[in-house]
Amino acid sequence: MADNVAIPEGREVTYLERIGAHSHIRGLGLDDSLEPRQASQGMVGQQQARRAAGVVLEMIKDGKIAGRAMLLAGQPGTGKTAIAMGMSRALGQDTPFTNMSATEIYSLEMSKTEALTQAIRKSIGVRIKEETEIIEGEVVEILVDNPTTGSGQKVGKLTLKTTEMETVYDLGQKMIDSIMREKIQSGDVITIDKATGKVSRLGRSFARARDYDATGAQTRFVQCPEGELQKRKEVVHTVTLHEIDVINSRTQGFLALFSGDTGEIKSEVRDQINSKVAEWREEGKAEIAPGVLFVDEAHMLDIECFSFLNRALEHEMSPVIIMATNRGITRIRGTNYKSPHGIPIDLLDRMIIIKTTPYDEKELKQILKIRSEEEDVDISEDALKVLTRIATETSLRYAIQLITTAGVIAKRRKSQEVSIEDVKKVYALFLDEHRSSQYLKEYQNEFMFNEIGQGDASTVRTTTETSAPAAAAMDVS
Ligand SMILES: Nc1ncnc2c1ncn2[C@@H]1O[C@H](COP(=O)(O)OP(=O)(O)OP(=O)(O)O)[C@@H](O)[C@H]1O
Ligand SMILES: [Mg+2]
Repeated sequence: MADNVAIPEGREVTYLERIGAHSHIRGLGLDDSLEPRQASQGMVGQQQARRAAGVVLEMIKDGKIAGRAMLLAGQPGTGKTAIAMGMSRALGQDTPFTNMSATEIYSLEMSKTEALTQAIRKSIGVRIKEETEIIEGEVVEILVDNPTTGSGQKVGKLTLKTTEMETVYDLGQKMIDSIMREKIQSGDVITIDKATGKVSRLGRSFARARDYDATGAQTRFVQCPEGELQKRKEVVHTVTLHEIDVINSRTQGFLALFSGDTGEIKSEVRDQINSKVAEWREEGKAEIAPGVLFVDEAHMLDIECFSFLNRALEHEMSPVIIMATNRGITRIRGTNYKSPHGIPIDLLDRMIIIKTTPYDEKELKQILKIRSEEEDVDISEDALKVLTRIATETSLRYAIQLITTAGVIAKRRKSQEVSIEDVKKVYALFLDEHRSSQYLKEYQNEFMFNEIGQGDASTVRTTTETSAPAAAAMDVS
C-alpha cells in the first residue's frame, strides 16, 4: 500500500517487567461513572486527582483532542508518577504512551529539540487499515515428519476445514515452528496470515466441547468457520509516527527500532511522511490516534524546551502532554526568572493542573500492604502498623524500601513472615533522609566538601529529598 513510504509491521515485542516502583498499579481504579473507588487496581486514595485524571483519560480515548497539556503537581511521594502510570495502563496497547524524564533530554546524543520531536512523534499513533489474505479454519490434523537423521528440515501437513470444505496444506520448517510455538492442536480454530505466516488461535471448536475436561477453564470456544478457507480480512494495526520515521530514514533502518539508537532524523524524511500520512487519512486508509507524552520531573526542562513544547501543542498532530513536578515556585531553568513549578506562565496557562496531596495513615497502610503483596513479602499485622508509623513520620518511599529489606532479613532467619523485629532491624540499618541529615550535621567535619553551616539544615533537606542535587543547588542561589 505504501509506494515510497514503508510502514513497520505491527509490534510483536513484549516487554518483560521486573517489580518496579509502580508495578502494582494496574489502572486508575475508576468505576464506570469515572468515580474513583477508594482502593482498586493497585491505586489507593488520592481520589480528587484520580477523578481528574480519569476525565482526561476519556478525552484521550476519544482520540478527538490533541494539543492539550496537563500538569500533576504535589509533594514528593504523593503518587504523581503512579497516576501517570495508571493512565498508561488504562489506555492499553493501542494508544501510544511515551514515558520520559525531563533529564533524558540532556543525556542523548542529539539536540534537545530533536529529542523532544522524537518523543512527540513516539506519542502519536497511526492506525493503519490493511486488507490481508488469511486462511481461517478448524484444525483437523497436524502431521509432522521428524527427519530420522536428527538434523535437516522438518516437513509436515496441516489439514484445515470449514463447514463447507477441507484442504491439506504442506508445512515448511517456519510454519511448523510457529504452530509448535502456539501449541496448536487438532480441534483449534486458527488463522494464518498469508503474507507473514503468522499463526494465531481463535479458540477451540464447539464440536470439541466434549473434551472440556482436558482443556481447562479459560478455553474459549468458537464456531467452526463457514465458507471458503481463504478470506480477505481487514486488519488494523497501530504504529507510531516515530516508528515510520525510523524505518524510512535511510541512515537508520529497521534495526535502529530495536537498538533504540536512532540519532537525528532529517526533516525532509518527516515532511515526506507527514504528507503521506495525510494522504492515507484522506483515502480512509489510516487514522491518527493522538497518544500521550508523559514528562516526569518537568521542572528539569529549560526555557528552550518549554518554548518548543508551547509551539508543538499548537500543531494539529500533537499528543496530549502530561507533566509532573514536585517543585514550588522556583527558577525556570535557563533563565533568572522564577515561576510556579519552574514552568513559564504562558505554558502553565495552557495546562490543566491536577494537584496531589499527602496521604493519611489509613491510606499509607493500604499502599504498604499492596506493595508487600506485590513484592511477595508476608508481613504481620503489627509489623505493618509499625511500618505505617514509619511512613507517616518519614516518607512513604522510605517505608516501601523497608519492605524489601525486611523481607530479606526475615528470609535469612527462615521465617515466612516479616515481624516487628525485622522492621526494627532494617530501620536501624538504613537511615531515612531526616536521620541522615541529622547525622551529617553532627559529623560534618569528617566529611569532604563540608561547606554547610549550622543554620543550613534546610538546604541539606532539599538536596537529599530530590533526585537532582545540582538543580536544587542552583535554585538556592
Ligand atoms: N495512590 C497510590 N496508590 C498506590 N500506590 C501509590 C499511590 N501513590 C503513590 N504510590 C506509590 O508510592 C511510591 C511513590 O509514589 P510516586 O513515585 O508516584 O510519587 P511522586 O508523586 O511521583 O513523587 P516525586 O515527586 O518524588 O516524583 C510509588 O511506589 C508509587 O507507586
Ligand atoms: Mg515521580
